[in-house]
Amino acid sequence: MEYVTLNNGIKMPVLGYGVYQVSNEECERCVLDAISVGYRSIDTAQAYGNEEAVGNAIKKCGVPREELFITTKVWISNGGYEKAKTSLRESLCKLQSEYIDLVLIHQPFNDYYGTYRAMEEAYKEGWIRAIGVSNFYPDRLVDLCNFVEVKPAVNQVETHVFQQQAQAHEYMVKYGVQHESWGPFAEGRNDFFTNPVLTKIGEKYNKSAAQTALRFLIQSGVVVIPKSTHKERMIQNIDVFDFVLSGEDMEAIQALDEKESLFFSHYDPAMVEMLTGLHQ
Ligand SMILES: NC(=O)c1ccc[n+]([C@@H]2O[C@H](COP(=O)([O-])OP(=O)(O)OC[C@H]3O[C@@H](n4cnc5c(N)ncnc54)[C@H](OP(=O)(O)O)[C@@H]3O)[C@@H](O)[C@H]2O)c1
Repeated sequence: MEYVTLNNGIKMPVLGYGVYQVSNEECERCVLDAISVGYRSIDTAQAYGNEEAVGNAIKKCGVPREELFITTKVWISNGGYEKAKTSLRESLCKLQSEYIDLVLIHQPFNDYYGTYRAMEEAYKEGWIRAIGVSNFYPDRLVDLCNFVEVKPAVNQVETHVFQQQAQAHEYMVKYGVQHESWGPFAEGRNDFFTNPVLTKIGEKYNKSAAQTALRFLIQSGVVVIPKSTHKERMIQNIDVFDFVLSGEDMEAIQALDEKESLFFSHYDPAMVEMLTGLHQ
């Protein structure tokens, strides 16, 4: 596994395993499978409803806790200092750990400065090793970076070959924030896994479109957390460290960028209404 060093000196695997839309029932088996084939970083969230299953897998996997890197995220309804503080303790309990490696604010809504203060406090107390944000587009990220004591270490945003986030990436680099991709396969949208450019480039290296896409992001300085419930795909998705895309390949994949979300805009009020209404 390769690692990046975050702005506070903590090391994070460049590739991890995401458990969004993995049911609580299936999640323990999935995380155990992922760890058994070499994943060391697991990305969950309060809103996914499977922190407890991740915690069970952490307990059972046989890999020392210090070799794992566990991320969770504070949901909107737990926003604000007091609620966030309580929810962080609950997450710690569900994850059955003495500490959490990385906690992110899941969405830039509700009183996220209050949430961030609760996270800063836990960070200073030592039971959260790094703090950051998710879905913070450059305007929100710049604002936050300028008014908090502990700079966010990570920003997890939708990033894949069709939405490469070049401008957002520049701001993250400028403020020392590690860019992390969610949806590295765009959840399969746009016929992702049969894309002719990815497939053709992959053939040169004996790799699939999925592997080529992950390699592209890693070589672009982006941390990835692909999700699959299938063990053979977990094995495929982590097998991306034995080849290097050429400059020409990188340019051809850069040309796939549509510079738009394949999901939704965080600036769409109807979407904000939907998100802020979830898990109330
Ligand atoms: N912060 C946020 O707001 C946010 C939002 C979304 C996601 N995330 C995080 O990012 C992680 C990854 O994103 P995601 O789960 O949304 O989507 P994704 O990783 O882009 O795509 C997952 C989909 O691709 C399929 N797949 C995986 N590997 C494959 C392969 N090698 N060949 C063919 N199909 C393959 C999976 O199917 P099977 O499972 O059936 O194999 C699943 O349908 C999440 O799990 C979560 O941790 C965060």
